[in-house]
Amino acid sequence: MASLFLNKFVVSSLVAMLLFAGASYAQQLTPTFYDSTCPNVIGIVRTVLQNAAMADPRIGASLNRLHFHDCFVNGCDGSLLLDNSATILSEKQALGNNNSVRGFDVVDQMKTQVEAACPGVVSCADILAIASEESVVLAGGPSWAVPLGRRDSLTANRSLADDQLPPPFFTVDELKANFATVGLNTTEDLVALSGAHTFGRARCVGFVGRLYNFNSTGGPDPTINATFLETLRQICPQNGNGSVLTNLDRTTADAFDSNYFTNLQTREGLLQTDQELISTPGSDTIELVNRFAANQTAFFQSFVNSMIRMGNIPPPPGSPSEIRRNCRVVNSASVADTIVTTTTTPTGSVGTDGFASDM
Ligand SMILES: *[C@@H]1O[C@H](CO)[C@@H](O)[C@H](O)[C@H]1NC(C)=O
Ligand SMILES: *[C@@H]1O[C@H](CO)[C@@H](O)[C@H](O)[C@H]1NC(C)=O
Ligand SMILES: *[C@@H]1O[C@H](CO)[C@@H](O)[C@H](O)[C@H]1NC(C)=O
Ligand SMILES: *[C@@H]1O[C@H](CO)[C@@H](O)[C@H](O)[C@H]1NC(C)=O
Ligand SMILES: *[C@@H]1O[C@H](CO)[C@@H](O)[C@H](O)[C@H]1NC(C)=O
Ligand SMILES: *[C@@H]1O[C@H](CO)[C@@H](O)[C@H](O)[C@H]1NC(C)=O
Ligand SMILES: *[C@@H]1O[C@H](CO)[C@@H](O)[C@H](O)[C@H]1NC(C)=O
Repeated sequence: MASLFLNKFVVSSLVAMLLFAGASYAQQLTPTFYDSTCPNVIGIVRTVLQNAAMADPRIGASLNRLHFHDCFVNGCDGSLLLDNSATILSEKQALGNNNSVRGFDVVDQMKTQVEAACPGVVSCADILAIASEESVVLAGGPSWAVPLGRRDSLTANRSLADDQLPPPFFTVDELKANFATVGLNTTEDLVALSGAHTFGRARCVGFVGRLYNFNSTGGPDPTINATFLETLRQICPQNGNGSVLTNLDRTTADAFDSNYFTNLQTREGLLQTDQELISTPGSDTIELVNRFAANQTAFFQSFVNSMIRMGNIPPPPGSPSEIRRNCRVVNSASVADTIVTTTTTPTGSVGTDGFASDM
């Protein structure tokens, strides 16, 4: 995001150890993957991001969301970046994406510059993973060594994206079940990754259901702070324009910090899926929200661990893959000989908890 903060979290040795534990690809992901083939890839991505963020302070959060929505649908394989074509039904128009995913032009700029420096080497899926980390750093959050070596899919799956991207009105139990289907089966994964709503914007359509007739009660969501409710009703009038934007973090909109969690303590979470992490009676998420609210270091550490776990979600074994030249389209059939088919089955290891072998 536009604001630059100096608070930079240094990855602990424990986190560094986890980097090598999670990959379920035939080829293990590793932060050193491009050290000899494209040593400047991170710097290139960072420079494009920094330039884009000057004009568009929400771009970092938008890119972060692209990585999340890529990984949750058949693993982190750049499938979300494919446009509609004769053979591709793009995930960009899936229920949880249509009219809300953005930043593809910036991904294109990153890819163009990376291709100019190291043609045919760096996957679009890896560019998203790097952009995601660099966006967090630019907003004042933690940095980490991003495991790399992902490959790009030859297909997209809109119906799976329709089913798999969690809507903003899921309950805690529904969110947990949803995350568990991609192997993110701990409460810590859910609460830490929800903390990505410390930056970025949401549209009225995502939370107006809380403001006037929540769950068909005829009144607002009782968990919303009364003052905050009045503010939100002014931003999003009943039957108003659902595309109007507001900040996910009402206190420090563009900074990556722990205020997302302190907002929840004062009942000022924007989405139902945010607020209920602390407002669901008896939920084991409450203790984590309070811990992260009190201790930003603890949040950053858990966030890094869970981002690495999310970034390690593998495509289904046997999925054909390639290094796309253009993130929006698969390479032409004439280069079919560069297509690699994963033949090995993912093996279990410390970081692969819940990564079912049929994924
Ligand atoms: C996506 O949104 C546009 C504009 O609102 C709409 O016309 C289109 O039908 C939507 N696509 C899908 C697949 O829902
Ligand atoms: C999408 O995924 C679903 C569930 O795995 C599968 O049944 C369907 O065949 C896939 N569709 C495409 C177009 O790959
Ligand atoms: C919505 O209403 C239903 C039926 O009254 C109830 O079972 C459910 O718990 C409510 N959901 C929320 C999030 O309050
Ligand atoms: C709705 O709000 C969006 C975002 O501010 C704006 O771009 C759009 O023009 C608005 N639409 C209407 C019909 O006012
Ligand atoms: C509502 O928000 C205000 C402003 O942040 C805060 O002072 C107050 O304590 C909140 N109320 C509740 C019930 O949390
Ligand atoms: C904050 O969290 C970090 C990381 O989990 C921990 O090492 C530290 O002791 C915590 N600080 C306090 C004051 O609890
Ligand atoms: C997560 O899944 C892994 C692998 O299936 C399992 O060993 C672990 O117990 C699960 N953790 C939780 C909290 O359910």
